[in-house]
Amino acid sequence: MDFETLEKQCATCQKCGLAATRTNCVFGKGDRHAELMFVGEAPGEQEDLSGMPFVGRAGQLLDKFLDAVEIPRDRVYIANILKCRPPQNRDPLPEEEDACIGYLREQVRLIRPKVIVCLGRISAMRLIKPDFRITKEHGLWFEKGDFLMTAVYHPAYLLRDPRKKEDMLTDMKRIRAKLDELK
Ligand code: URA
Repeated sequence: MDFETLEKQCATCQKCGLAATRTNCVFGKGDRHAELMFVGEAPGEQEDLSGMPFVGRAGQLLDKFLDAVEIPRDRVYIANILKCRPPQNRDPLPEEEDACIGYLREQVRLIRPKVIVCLGRISAMRLIKPDFRITKEHGLWFEKGDFLMTAVYHPAYLLRDPRKKEDMLTDMKRIRAKLDELK
């Protein structure tokens, strides 16, 4: 399946209950040939309204870290585990993740990134391993088939606990160095 067909399917998806409450499906955005892909948790209010991932406060903080390590946002691809916003931004339900994960799988298959970065615990637990511990294991590398994976703190968490921003910068620098190494 190609990107356009997949995105169209996603826009009218009825696979889970979130279809009833979404304004927009947030498929993902960025370079379809990106070497680096970020995967967050689920759209928030601003994302639901705009249809774009990471455009609210958390997204603006992510942009700052990308700028700090000189990774242009339009050179990466950004998506989420869930394409629709859970009401009140609650955690995704397992059945919602199960219903939605096929879209992300297809996105990864089409983009074929070298590195996938999980933004936060929910994404890391789904994509790296179910018992992933973000405080202990952020910034570590995991080999998964054709690509490398790592996880960093979710930017929304950094807004709540700014002391973790230093760790985030270190991790982002490591990601930048890994991309340079893989060239
Ligand atoms: N948080 C996420 O996990 N994803 C978004 O797109 C926005 C906020």
